[in-house]
This record gives sequence, C-alpha cells and structure tokens, in this order.
Amino acid sequence: MLVNSRLILNKADKGRYAIGAFNVSNLEIMQAVIEGASELRSPVIVQTSESAIKYAGMQNLVAMTRNLSGTAKIPVALHLDHGKTIETIKKAIESGYTSVMIDASDQPFEKNAAITKRIALLAHKKEVSVEGELGTLGGKEDYVSGRAELTDPGMAKEFVEKTGVDCLAVAIGTSHGAFKAAARLDIKRLKKIKKLVKIPLALHGASGVYRDIVAKAEKYGAKLESAKGNSDTEIQVSIAAGVSKVNTDTDLRLSFTAGLRKCLKEKTNLFDPREIMKEAKNEMKRMVKRRIILFGSSNKC
Ligand code: 13P
Repeated sequence: MLVNSRLILNKADKGRYAIGAFNVSNLEIMQAVIEGASELRSPVIVQTSESAIKYAGMQNLVAMTRNLSGTAKIPVALHLDHGKTIETIKKAIESGYTSVMIDASDQPFEKNAAITKRIALLAHKKEVSVEGELGTLGGKEDYVSGRAELTDPGMAKEFVEKTGVDCLAVAIGTSHGAFKAAARLDIKRLKKIKKLVKIPLALHGASGVYRDIVAKAEKYGAKLESAKGNSDTEIQVSIAAGVSKVNTDTDLRLSFTAGLRKCLKEKTNLFDPREIMKEAKNEMKRMVKRRIILFGSSNKC
C-alpha cells in the first residue's frame, strides 16, 4: 500500500533502524525494489529524481508505483528526490507522490529555510511529507554537483524549527555517485545533530559501491577504475547514531550494469528484452535485499 513517508520514518527513528530509499527510473528497477522489500517484509521508499522524471514521465512513474504497491503487502512511499523547482514539487504533490524533498541547500540559510517552509506548508495541506536539506554533499549524479559543506548542528535545529519539515538530509561526509571522496564520516557531528533535532535524519550518497559488484561489471567489460563507496560499518554506525533514511541509487545502477553485461556476454543467442532484463533485475533485487538487511528494516511490517 502507498503511504506517507513520515509514518514509516518516525517508526524507524524510534526503533533505531533505517528505511531504504531507492532511486528508480523504469519498471524493472521498481519491481526489483518492491519485490525485494516485500520478500523481507520491509517498509520501503521508492524515489525519483527530476531527471528520472524527465526520462520516464511523472505520470508513468506514479502509475507504476500505485499498481505495484497496491498489490504489495508492505508500506511503500513514493518520494521526489532532490526537488529543485516549486513547479515540479507542486506537480508531484498533485500527481500522487506521498513525499517530496525540497533541495534548496545551495541557497544561503535564510533563503533555504524560507523556500523549504513554503513547500512544507503546501505539502502538509495534502498530507504529503517533506524532506529538507541543510549542508551540501560532494560528488555528482542526477541531482546536484557541488563542494561539500557539512551540516552545522545548531543551524540544523533552527532550520527544522523554522521550516516544519518531517525529515532532514544532513551532510556528514558522504558524496553522491560511484567515485566517492575518501573522507571519513563525521559521526560526532551526526550525534550532535541528532541530540538537537527531533525528526528523522536522511543520509544521501550512501551507496556501498561493493567490490564484488564492481568486479563483476568489470569482468564483463565495464571500466570502473577508482570506484569507491561507504563501508557497511560506516552505514551501521550512522544508523545507530540517528539516521533513519538511507538513500541508494549508485548500487542499483552498478548491479543493473553487472547483470546486463553478464547476460549479453554469456547468452549471445538472447534477443528478447524480457529475458535480457531478467538478470539485471535479479541482480538489483539481490542488492535491494542486501541493503535492507544492512539497514535493519526486515520484518518491520
Ligand atoms: P548514491 O549515489 O550513493 O547511491 O546516493 C544516492 C542519493 O543520495 C540520491 O539522493
């Protein structure tokens, strides 16, 4: 069933586990996420970036999520990841998203807070949850690229009080993409933020970029030199210190690539897209389950 993300995040926050927020942009990725989460009886967040919307179409993404979550026996939230414009956010709310992110983190504090508050007022009228962001991540993907600037705990408290957001994305040293900076995560900072901020915290740029998946993709021709992610221990420590939402996009992209490359290289007689996509989808589903087990959200519904 399709739910508000506030509901599942607040529960995770109290239970000290995290909900996986997986980026999707087509049917197979969405099936991998919802089927994987269902098999582990875990609540899940399906999220789409603005460029995923450009690729697949907002109405198609909403319809697919509605249909797949309608038959699933787990709570699923449909979340807009890194919403940058008020127009897109309004459209998402009107179209059936149950959760939106307003990312005005590239703006000065007061402006970020004012824009975020405006979105929170708008979204809450429709029972839609809101994630804001304070601080910026390094790296580059669909979303934004930029210089990392870690979140200040005192400002985070003020930001949450001023805006009324339901969830706050914090910058503690992670970065987006498959080539993450070697920075250690600032867990002390995270703990200080969690002490002052009473709502669920989100960790972006959290993919593991696992050696086995990278090696598999490389075995079948991918060139991914210097790919690097967060260790499982870093993610577990972050969850124990207060993170309740963990974003994962790159790990699904790498799994898709590994599965697809293997299939095309080994089964040269295949030409049915459904058969070809099967291995990619199964590789992604394995990744979804691996991440959910890491986040501790299995058997929570
Ligand atoms: P990764 O690139 O580490 O998967 O992070 C994705 C993300 O944070 C989307 O908002």
